[in-house]
Amino acid sequence: MTELFSARLKASTATIHDEVEHTNFMVDLMEGRLDARAYALLLKQYTVIYAALEAKSREFAEDPIFAPFHDVNLFRGERIVRDLQELIGSAEFTLNDSDLPITGGAEAYARHLGHIDKPEQVIAHHYTRYLGDLSGGQAIGALMGRHYDIPADALTIWDFTELGKTKPYKDSYRLRLNDIAGTGGNEQIVIDETMTAFELNGELLSELTSLSERPTADRPAAAGPTAAGPTAAGRPAASSVF
Ligand code: HEM
Repeated sequence: MTELFSARLKASTATIHDEVEHTNFMVDLMEGRLDARAYALLLKQYTVIYAALEAKSREFAEDPIFAPFHDVNLFRGERIVRDLQELIGSAEFTLNDSDLPITGGAEAYARHLGHIDKPEQVIAHHYTRYLGDLSGGQAIGALMGRHYDIPADALTIWDFTELGKTKPYKDSYRLRLNDIAGTGGNEQIVIDETMTAFELNGELLSELTSLSERPTADRPAAAGPTAAGPTAAGRPAASSVF
Protein backbone atom coordinates (compact mmCIF):
# COMPACT_ATOMS: atom_id res chain seq x y z
CA MET A 1 0.00 0.00 0.00
CA THR A 2 1.30 3.48 -0.80
CA GLU A 3 2.32 5.45 2.25
CA LEU A 4 0.00 8.33 3.05
CA PHE A 5 1.56 11.74 2.45
CA SER A 6 1.08 12.83 6.08
CA ALA A 7 3.12 9.82 7.22
CA ARG A 8 5.77 10.45 4.57
CA LEU A 9 6.10 14.09 5.63
CA LYS A 10 6.41 13.16 9.30
CA ALA A 11 9.00 10.46 8.51
CA SER A 12 10.98 12.79 6.24
CA THR A 13 11.31 15.37 9.01
CA ALA A 14 11.76 12.99 11.97
CA THR A 15 15.54 13.46 12.20
CA ILE A 16 15.48 17.22 11.94
CA HIS A 17 12.55 17.35 14.38
CA ASP A 18 14.69 15.48 16.84
CA GLU A 19 17.52 17.99 16.29
CA VAL A 20 15.42 21.10 16.89
CA GLU A 21 13.73 19.48 19.87
CA HIS A 22 17.17 18.83 21.37
CA THR A 23 18.86 22.18 20.78
CA ASN A 24 20.43 23.30 24.05
CA PHE A 25 18.00 26.20 24.34
CA MET A 26 14.93 23.96 24.06
CA VAL A 27 16.27 21.29 26.39
CA ASP A 28 17.31 23.81 29.03
CA LEU A 29 14.05 25.74 28.71
CA MET A 30 11.95 22.58 29.02
CA GLU A 31 13.97 21.23 31.94
CA GLY A 32 13.68 24.39 34.00
CA ARG A 33 17.30 25.58 33.74
CA LEU A 34 16.47 28.96 32.17
CA ASP A 35 14.11 31.69 33.32
CA ALA A 36 11.05 33.73 32.34
CA ARG A 37 13.27 36.07 30.33
CA ALA A 38 14.40 33.21 28.11
CA TYR A 39 10.79 32.26 27.44
CA ALA A 40 9.93 35.92 26.74
CA LEU A 41 12.89 36.05 24.36
CA LEU A 42 11.45 33.09 22.44
CA LEU A 43 8.02 34.77 22.33
CA LYS A 44 9.62 37.96 21.05
CA GLN A 45 11.03 36.03 18.08
CA TYR A 46 7.59 34.60 17.44
CA THR A 47 6.09 38.10 17.08
CA VAL A 48 7.85 38.62 13.74
CA ILE A 49 7.63 35.01 12.60
CA TYR A 50 3.89 34.58 13.17
CA ALA A 51 3.15 38.04 11.76
CA ALA A 52 4.88 36.97 8.54
CA LEU A 53 3.32 33.48 8.51
CA GLU A 54 -0.17 34.82 9.12
CA ALA A 55 0.17 37.59 6.51
CA LYS A 56 1.25 34.93 4.00
CA SER A 57 -1.64 32.65 5.02
CA ARG A 58 -4.10 35.49 4.42
CA GLU A 59 -2.48 36.19 1.05
CA PHE A 60 -3.06 32.55 0.02
CA ALA A 61 -6.44 32.11 1.75
CA GLU A 62 -8.30 31.71 -1.55
CA ASP A 63 -5.68 29.60 -3.26
CA PRO A 64 -7.25 26.21 -4.07
CA ILE A 65 -4.22 24.27 -2.79
CA PHE A 66 -3.71 26.25 0.43
CA ALA A 67 -7.38 27.10 1.18
CA PRO A 68 -8.18 23.77 2.93
CA PHE A 69 -5.49 24.60 5.53
CA HIS A 70 -6.44 28.22 6.15
CA ASP A 71 -8.05 28.68 9.55
CA VAL A 72 -7.92 31.97 11.44
CA ASN A 73 -8.54 30.08 14.69
CA LEU A 74 -4.98 28.81 14.39
CA PHE A 75 -3.52 32.30 14.26
CA ARG A 76 -1.24 33.05 17.20
CA GLY A 77 0.02 36.56 16.39
CA GLU A 78 -2.30 38.59 18.62
CA ARG A 79 -1.99 36.10 21.47
CA ILE A 80 1.81 36.28 21.30
CA VAL A 81 1.77 40.08 21.52
CA ARG A 82 -0.65 39.96 24.49
CA ASP A 83 1.35 37.24 26.28
CA LEU A 84 4.49 39.33 25.92
CA GLN A 85 2.72 42.42 27.24
CA GLU A 86 1.56 40.40 30.26
CA LEU A 87 5.09 39.19 30.95
CA ILE A 88 6.74 42.55 30.49
CA GLY A 89 4.04 44.34 32.49
CA SER A 90 4.24 41.91 35.39
CA ALA A 91 6.06 43.23 38.45
CA GLU A 92 7.11 39.67 39.25
CA PHE A 93 9.51 39.24 36.36
CA THR A 94 11.10 42.69 35.93
CA LEU A 95 11.49 42.20 32.20
CA ASN A 96 12.42 44.97 29.87
CA ASP A 97 11.42 45.01 26.22
CA SER A 98 14.83 46.43 25.25
CA ASP A 99 16.44 43.34 26.78
CA LEU A 100 14.49 41.11 24.36
CA PRO A 101 16.11 41.65 20.95
CA ILE A 102 14.80 40.23 17.69
CA THR A 103 17.57 37.95 16.48
CA GLY A 104 19.07 37.72 13.02
CA GLY A 105 17.61 34.20 12.86
CA ALA A 106 14.08 35.45 13.46
CA GLU A 107 14.53 38.22 10.93
CA ALA A 108 15.84 35.75 8.34
CA TYR A 109 12.90 33.39 9.03
CA ALA A 110 10.36 36.22 8.66
CA ARG A 111 12.08 37.49 5.53
CA HIS A 112 11.97 34.00 4.03
CA LEU A 113 8.25 33.76 4.80
CA GLY A 114 7.70 37.08 3.06
CA HIS A 115 9.35 35.77 -0.09
CA ILE A 116 7.73 32.37 -0.57
CA ASP A 117 5.32 32.33 -3.47
CA LYS A 118 3.93 28.80 -3.84
CA PRO A 119 0.93 27.46 -1.92
CA GLU A 120 2.85 24.26 -1.10
CA GLN A 121 5.54 26.37 0.62
CA VAL A 122 2.90 28.14 2.68
CA ILE A 123 1.47 24.77 3.68
CA ALA A 124 4.97 23.64 4.74
CA HIS A 125 5.46 26.56 7.14
CA HIS A 126 1.88 26.36 8.34
CA TYR A 127 2.32 22.67 9.14
CA THR A 128 5.70 23.15 10.84
CA ARG A 129 4.51 25.81 13.23
CA TYR A 130 0.88 24.98 13.92
CA LEU A 131 1.06 21.19 14.05
CA GLY A 132 4.13 21.65 16.24
CA ASP A 133 2.24 24.06 18.50
CA LEU A 134 -0.63 21.58 18.72
CA SER A 135 1.80 18.78 19.64
CA GLY A 136 5.03 19.44 21.58
CA GLY A 137 3.91 23.05 22.03
CA GLN A 138 1.31 21.89 24.51
CA ALA A 139 4.08 20.52 26.72
CA ILE A 140 6.00 23.79 26.40
CA GLY A 141 3.00 25.73 27.71
CA ALA A 142 2.52 23.40 30.68
CA LEU A 143 6.21 23.41 31.62
CA MET A 144 6.61 27.20 31.40
CA GLY A 145 3.92 27.55 34.05
CA ARG A 146 5.47 24.88 36.24
CA HIS A 147 9.16 25.86 36.00
CA TYR A 148 8.99 29.64 35.79
CA ASP A 149 5.62 30.49 37.41
CA ILE A 150 4.38 32.07 34.22
CA PRO A 151 0.64 32.69 34.73
CA ALA A 152 -2.01 31.29 32.36
CA ASP A 153 -2.75 34.89 31.23
CA ALA A 154 0.70 34.98 29.61
CA LEU A 155 0.47 31.50 28.08
CA THR A 156 -2.49 31.99 25.77
CA ILE A 157 -0.39 31.11 22.71
CA TRP A 158 -0.80 27.45 23.65
CA ASP A 159 -4.55 27.67 24.14
CA PHE A 160 -6.32 26.21 21.11
CA THR A 161 -9.74 25.65 22.69
CA GLU A 162 -11.37 27.51 19.78
CA LEU A 163 -10.40 24.57 17.56
CA GLY A 164 -12.20 22.02 19.72
CA LYS A 165 -10.31 18.90 20.74
CA THR A 166 -6.72 18.82 19.52
CA LYS A 167 -6.54 15.19 18.43
CA PRO A 168 -9.46 15.25 15.95
CA TYR A 169 -8.20 18.59 14.62
CA LYS A 170 -4.74 17.15 13.96
CA ASP A 171 -6.29 14.05 12.40
CA SER A 172 -8.33 16.17 10.02
CA TYR A 173 -5.27 18.31 9.26
CA ARG A 174 -3.42 15.13 8.24
CA LEU A 175 -6.34 14.19 5.94
CA ARG A 176 -5.88 17.58 4.27
CA LEU A 177 -2.17 16.85 3.87
CA ASN A 178 -3.07 13.52 2.26
CA ASP A 179 -5.24 15.36 -0.23
CA ILE A 180 -2.63 17.88 -1.42
CA ALA A 181 -2.00 15.99 -4.65
CA GLY A 182 -5.76 15.73 -5.11
CA THR A 183 -6.07 19.53 -5.16
CA GLY A 184 -3.24 19.81 -7.70
CA GLY A 185 -0.41 20.41 -5.22
CA ASN A 186 3.13 19.13 -5.48
CA GLU A 187 4.00 16.99 -2.45
CA GLN A 188 7.77 17.19 -2.97
CA ILE A 189 7.70 20.98 -2.70
CA VAL A 190 5.94 20.59 0.66
CA ILE A 191 8.60 18.17 1.92
CA ASP A 192 11.51 20.30 0.72
CA GLU A 193 10.09 23.49 2.19
CA THR A 194 9.24 21.77 5.48
CA MET A 195 12.92 20.86 5.79
CA THR A 196 13.75 24.53 5.25
CA ALA A 197 11.18 25.52 7.87
CA PHE A 198 12.74 23.18 10.43
CA GLU A 199 16.22 24.47 9.56
CA LEU A 200 15.08 28.07 10.11
CA ASN A 201 13.64 27.06 13.47
CA GLY A 202 16.85 25.29 14.42
CA GLU A 203 19.02 28.25 13.48
CA LEU A 204 16.83 30.53 15.54
CA LEU A 205 16.92 28.25 18.57
CA SER A 206 20.70 27.97 18.35
CA GLU A 207 21.01 31.72 18.35
CA LEU A 208 18.81 31.93 21.44
CA THR A 209 21.19 29.62 23.28
CA SER A 210 23.87 32.28 23.32
CA LEU A 211 21.40 35.02 24.26
CA SER A 212 19.85 33.30 27.24
CA GLU A 213 21.32 32.70 30.65
CA ARG A 214 22.31 29.09 30.70
CA PRO A 215 24.32 27.78 33.62
CA THR A 216 26.46 24.96 32.22
CA ALA A 217 26.33 22.84 35.36
CA ASP A 218 24.08 19.79 35.19
CA ARG A 219 23.20 20.21 31.50
CA PRO A 220 23.47 16.86 29.67
CA ALA A 221 26.62 16.80 27.57
CA ALA A 222 24.83 15.25 24.59
CA ALA A 223 22.11 17.89 24.38
CA GLY A 224 23.29 19.18 21.01
CA PRO A 225 22.13 18.04 17.60
CA THR A 226 23.17 14.59 16.54
CA ALA A 227 22.67 14.45 12.80
CA ALA A 228 23.96 11.12 11.61
CA GLY A 229 22.81 8.29 9.42
CA PRO A 230 19.85 8.12 7.10
CA THR A 231 16.47 9.56 8.01
CA ALA A 232 13.36 7.44 8.18
CA ALA A 233 12.80 8.41 4.55
CA GLY A 234 16.10 6.80 3.62
CA ARG A 235 18.05 9.91 2.69
CA PRO A 236 21.03 11.33 4.50
CA ALA A 237 20.19 13.33 7.58
CA ALA A 238 20.21 17.09 7.02
CA SER A 239 23.66 18.34 7.77
CA SER A 240 23.57 20.05 11.10
CA VAL A 241 23.10 23.73 10.57
CA PHE A 242 22.63 24.46 14.24
C1 HEM B 1 10.54 20.95 23.26
C2 HEM B 1 10.50 20.76 22.02
C3 HEM B 1 9.56 19.82 21.32
C4 HEM B 1 8.91 18.72 21.77
C5 HEM B 1 8.93 18.13 23.17
C6 HEM B 1 8.15 18.19 20.67
C7 HEM B 1 7.37 17.09 20.73
C8 HEM B 1 6.55 16.62 19.74
C9 HEM B 1 5.73 15.44 19.79
C10 HEM B 1 5.62 14.51 20.99
C11 HEM B 1 5.09 15.33 18.63
C12 HEM B 1 4.16 14.18 18.19
C13 HEM B 1 2.72 14.53 18.39
C14 HEM B 1 1.76 13.61 17.66
O1 HEM B 1 2.15 12.60 17.05
O2 HEM B 1 0.57 13.92 17.68
C15 HEM B 1 5.49 16.46 17.83
C16 HEM B 1 5.03 16.70 16.58
C17 HEM B 1 5.43 17.76 15.82
N1 HEM B 1 6.36 18.72 16.15
FE1 HEM B 1 7.40 18.84 17.83
N2 HEM B 1 8.34 18.99 19.58
C18 HEM B 1 9.20 19.99 19.95
C19 HEM B 1 9.67 21.01 19.19
C20 HEM B 1 9.26 21.24 17.91
C21 HEM B 1 9.75 22.32 17.10
C22 HEM B 1 10.78 23.37 17.52
C23 HEM B 1 9.10 22.19 15.90
C24 HEM B 1 9.22 23.04 14.68
C25 HEM B 1 9.30 24.31 14.72
C26 HEM B 1 8.20 21.07 15.99
C27 HEM B 1 7.35 20.65 14.99
C28 HEM B 1 6.50 19.56 15.07
C29 HEM B 1 5.60 19.14 14.02
C30 HEM B 1 5.41 19.80 12.68
C31 HEM B 1 4.92 18.02 14.50
C32 HEM B 1 3.85 17.23 13.76
C33 HEM B 1 4.41 15.95 13.18
C34 HEM B 1 3.30 15.17 12.46
O3 HEM B 1 2.50 14.56 13.13
O4 HEM B 1 3.27 15.21 11.22
N3 HEM B 1 8.34 20.50 17.22
N4 HEM B 1 6.38 17.21 18.51
